[in-house]
Amino acid sequence: MREASPQTIYLKDYTFPEYLIDSVELSLVLSEEDTRVVSKMMMQKNPDSENRESLLELAGEELELISLAIDGKALSDDDYQLSEEHLQIAEVPQEQPFILAIENKINPKANTALEGLYLSKQMLCTQCEAQGFRKITYFLDRPDIMSTFKTTLIADKDKYPVLLSNGNKVAEGELQNNRHWVTWEDPFKKPCYLFALVAGDLSCIEDKFVTMSGREISLQIFVEAEDIDKCEHAMDSLKNAMRWDEQVYGREYDLDLYMIVAVSHFNMGAMENKGLNIFNTKFVLARPDTATDSDYEHIEGVIAHEYFHNWTGNRVTCRDWFQLSLKEGFTVFRDQEFSGDQTSKAIKRIEDVKLLRTRQFAEDAGPLAHPIRPDSYIEINNFYTLTVYEKGAEVVRMIHTLLGVEGFRRGSDLYFQRHDGQAVTCDDFVSAMEDANAIDLSLFRRWYSQAGTPELSVKQVYDSEQQCLTLEMQQSSSPTPRQQTKKPLHIPVKLGLINSDGTTEKINYQSRPVVEEIVLELKQEKQTFEFNNLASKPVVSLLRGFSAPVVLKMEQSLEELAFLVRHDSDTFNRWEAGQKMSGTIIFSLIEAIQKSEQLKFNNLLLSSLSHVLQQDWEDLSYLSLLLSLPDESYLASQMKIIDVEAIHEAREFIKKSIAEGLESVFVSLYKQNHKDESGCFDAAAIGRRRIKNLALSYLSSLDNQQFYEFSEQQYHTAKNMTDQLAALSLIIESKHPSKEICLQQFYEQWQHEALVIDKWFALQACSRSSQTFDTVKTLTQHSAFSLNNPNRVRSLIGAFSQSNQLHFHAENGQGYQFLVENVIALNRINPQVAARMVVGLTQWKRFDYERQQKMKTALNQLVNTAEISKDVFEVASKSLL
Ligand code: PHE
Ligand code: ZN
Repeated sequence: MREASPQTIYLKDYTFPEYLIDSVELSLVLSEEDTRVVSKMMMQKNPDSENRESLLELAGEELELISLAIDGKALSDDDYQLSEEHLQIAEVPQEQPFILAIENKINPKANTALEGLYLSKQMLCTQCEAQGFRKITYFLDRPDIMSTFKTTLIADKDKYPVLLSNGNKVAEGELQNNRHWVTWEDPFKKPCYLFALVAGDLSCIEDKFVTMSGREISLQIFVEAEDIDKCEHAMDSLKNAMRWDEQVYGREYDLDLYMIVAVSHFNMGAMENKGLNIFNTKFVLARPDTATDSDYEHIEGVIAHEYFHNWTGNRVTCRDWFQLSLKEGFTVFRDQEFSGDQTSKAIKRIEDVKLLRTRQFAEDAGPLAHPIRPDSYIEINNFYTLTVYEKGAEVVRMIHTLLGVEGFRRGSDLYFQRHDGQAVTCDDFVSAMEDANAIDLSLFRRWYSQAGTPELSVKQVYDSEQQCLTLEMQQSSSPTPRQQTKKPLHIPVKLGLINSDGTTEKINYQSRPVVEEIVLELKQEKQTFEFNNLASKPVVSLLRGFSAPVVLKMEQSLEELAFLVRHDSDTFNRWEAGQKMSGTIIFSLIEAIQKSEQLKFNNLLLSSLSHVLQQDWEDLSYLSLLLSLPDESYLASQMKIIDVEAIHEAREFIKKSIAEGLESVFVSLYKQNHKDESGCFDAAAIGRRRIKNLALSYLSSLDNQQFYEFSEQQYHTAKNMTDQLAALSLIIESKHPSKEICLQQFYEQWQHEALVIDKWFALQACSRSSQTFDTVKTLTQHSAFSLNNPNRVRSLIGAFSQSNQLHFHAENGQGYQFLVENVIALNRINPQVAARMVVGLTQWKRFDYERQQKMKTALNQLVNTAEISKDVFEVASKSLL
């Protein structure tokens, strides 16, 4: 819990470690409440250290020290000092290597923060990133300390028949009292944040992968026995990821064994521990009747993400935690590209940009804004953010765009070759990209240190006499905390030009070869780009593929947008034009609502949508995206003062108007694509489900008995979770008479499937129905609800406060009070997850005066809570600044 005043750590204060740990031998006698740890570390003074002091300080928290010895000689009480967070040994050998042996005790069962060694149901497992290893034993817990680990686990044979750690199993045996032991050795040096162990009664599916050099790798996924039929998709995803990394990056797996363990209690999505990934069950388990299409996609993405970390994170790791985006940004970029290659690049890109623009842009515009390489933190766990991950991936993507596929590959090859086995910085990454391509990215580096989303304003001027189009571009970024003035960034702007007949215009730019698409490089605050030989004014398609994480301001008429919806060959911009079009129309309705005027529907949208619908579509997922309205949260992000009720009302009005105008089309779309397809996860089946459920969603806004029957019928007969959940969601969002019965029935059907029950909680938490607040409050008392399980917390409290802006931001402030009460309770159990729940309050400046006051009151309550953790304190106090 919080010390007097929590300390801020600065990047500028980084110094080399004073000691090194070359190898560690760990032995753990495991039990729920009293686990014994013996650690023997081969250490030496760091030859690079300039400090001549003989003091050694190790990190350690919530440990009970039993004994200490250096080179076999026990230390006495006077030789060392213990504090809440450290162990200091006054004198250790300076001239030659030495062995430091430590014995200590820990209590996994009391560890509800889920960092270090903890209990998840009957299973013991670890989570060490970022600083969890110090809750297992005293150590130099920082990523630039890389050591080889040899780990022996000793435990009861019946309770813990499976004993796992990193690397290869090298020995095992039996002991008296029904105990057994296993020794694991990891030949690769690694930082302690990649250490892991698992002990439990687990079932396993096994497979093989033959690498590009012909080595055979054994692949194992461990789960609880009842989940053994839900591992197949994860295994397929793993094999696809391994193959892809060989083909696209030339990276081969290095150990003979790759293990994944799924656990029910996990603070995040998954963890890339060397050779032994530990996963939230949510990102492993899937069966057609329990998981939705989107669950399947997420599993594929996260499995790949953790696998890719083996090179981007493990073999080459981070020097310090400020460099987190070095591994996360790059690895997210890699998993995005992988997922795009598996199914559809167009859809993957659109979905990633949606996430970036609704969540990351909000973070960048709020009180917690920070660069992808932050320069200070109080609690590093608070910096596993959308900025570090998603914007970090955009920054890597921009390098990819600037260098091209081959140039980027040359850069990544050099990066791996140069830094294999090292702990490095973001700067080292950029340098490798520069050196391999002989280019200068010095200006580009500003993306790493500057926070905030740049605004890119573009003016088009066409001169018909000169047959010349000029694009005047200007960039600017608003101030962010501790960064008042901003410098221009190096922004790649991908451009295409379209003729009035819909054909692609060839681009003539300076003396470069004529092309169909060009990447313009904006490097100054203001810059103009000229295009010649244009007989008539083309329609501009700018920032194609969302080539930079910026807000584009360019005037486009509704007619121009409708034209792009028909003709843009860039799948991202085609979708984007439609979103802008419906967004513009929704905003004019919001204005009308605020002025209490009558709402009128704009027919241009309808004709644009019917035109889209008349075409022959192969990719029904893409069609569904074209037909979808922007989310309420995206609309909110574009308003100066967010009016949650008006947004909701305007969007519903449009939705209903579209449904009225296209009713018969939606009915036939629904009927054509409504098939019983249990177990089909090919793109075509996913597309059919997506379009039919979208059609049903439009139809169900009509409040009509006939369509109520469609949903009810689908709900009761669905053989896959996508269809069942989509129908249930429509039923509970409408005035459907069977609401309560279906909810109850769903609970009874799935009460033994935790991940499905999470969906049941989330669905109710996200509901627009007027009962929602009371329902959510009641659900916190439900026997299946528990603050000890992060997935449950996220599915009820997280979903309500982050995905239900209509009710969370209710005028009377009850949503805020509800959140505060729960964060305070959760703070005592799991500070890391508690801090993440505060997000809903951080955007207070975007609301009207009354709401602002209520949100600030709520944040102040948190800051002033006696036992508040560093985690929650940092988020709440920074939000108030
Ligand atoms: N490194 C993990 C990932 O992104 C995330 C994580 C961080 C998991 C901290 C647990 C704790 O793959
Ligand atoms: Zn990661």
